[in-house]
Amino acid sequence: MIQLLGKIYRRVQRHVDLNRYNPTTIAEYLRKQGSTIGEGCVIVPTNLGAEPYLVRIGNHVTIAQGVKFETHDGGVWIFREELPDFQVFGPIVIEDNVVIGQNAILFPNIRIGRNSIVGAGSVVITDVPPDTICMGVPARPFGSISKYREKSIERWQAQRPPDILIEDGDTWWNSKHFPANREKLRRHLLELFRQELGGAGVPGNKRRKSL
Ligand SMILES: CC(C)(COP(=O)(O)OP(=O)(O)OC[C@H]1O[C@@H](n2cnc3c(N)ncnc32)[C@H](O)[C@@H]1OP(=O)(O)O)[C@@H](O)C(=O)NCCC(=O)NCCS
Repeated sequence: MIQLLGKIYRRVQRHVDLNRYNPTTIAEYLRKQGSTIGEGCVIVPTNLGAEPYLVRIGNHVTIAQGVKFETHDGGVWIFREELPDFQVFGPIVIEDNVVIGQNAILFPNIRIGRNSIVGAGSVVITDVPPDTICMGVPARPFGSISKYREKSIERWQAQRPPDILIEDGDTWWNSKHFPANREKLRRHLLELFRQELGGAGVPGNKRRKSL
């Protein structure tokens, strides 16, 4: 009974602790769990796996929702009858300026190089070189960052509301105009994607290929 109460107390305590943070401040909490994390990161998951002290994250890294950090190889479980304390571990290192897409799984013993993107849902089992987009299961390099940059700038030029205000030195998120800008963006995107969403539509929007 006391054990159960202790367990419930720890769960409630963790919940209360976590409520004090958001994705831009959670690094502070995760550092207390033993991870090494740089500055300017946006981290949505609140848990970096069973061995958080084996996770090292650089500066200006975004980690999307549902990303899993696996710092041990559970496969050796099947040898435990023979070797009762058998465990195998490996670190996960993420260098500066990286995005890890939603629901990616990161395996032990990997280093994700700076300026790289891991696609949503990918399973990363080997090192990712710097300046690389990788995706898939297992994740493989795909295309070039510079082409992705060009393509994305073109898309944003079509999607950016013409009347947004951001003062020099501010970003979209910390600008004092953020609420107004977000509303302008909502209206602009609704207009841009009117056809797709069931209205009259704006010609020339790139659509994903159909199956
Ligand atoms: C990896 C990513 C950046 C690629 O963007 P992109 O180049 O604009 O992607 P495209 O839609 O043009 O697809 C390019 C190719 O990659 C493939 N692809 C795209 N994303 C993929 C993914 N996550 N896993 C596997 N393959 C993927 C496409 O099928 C396409 O392949 P094809 O050329 O053989 O048809 C993007 O798809 C992604 O996963 N972004 C992260 C999304 C996310 O997690 N957002 C949460 C907020 S951070």
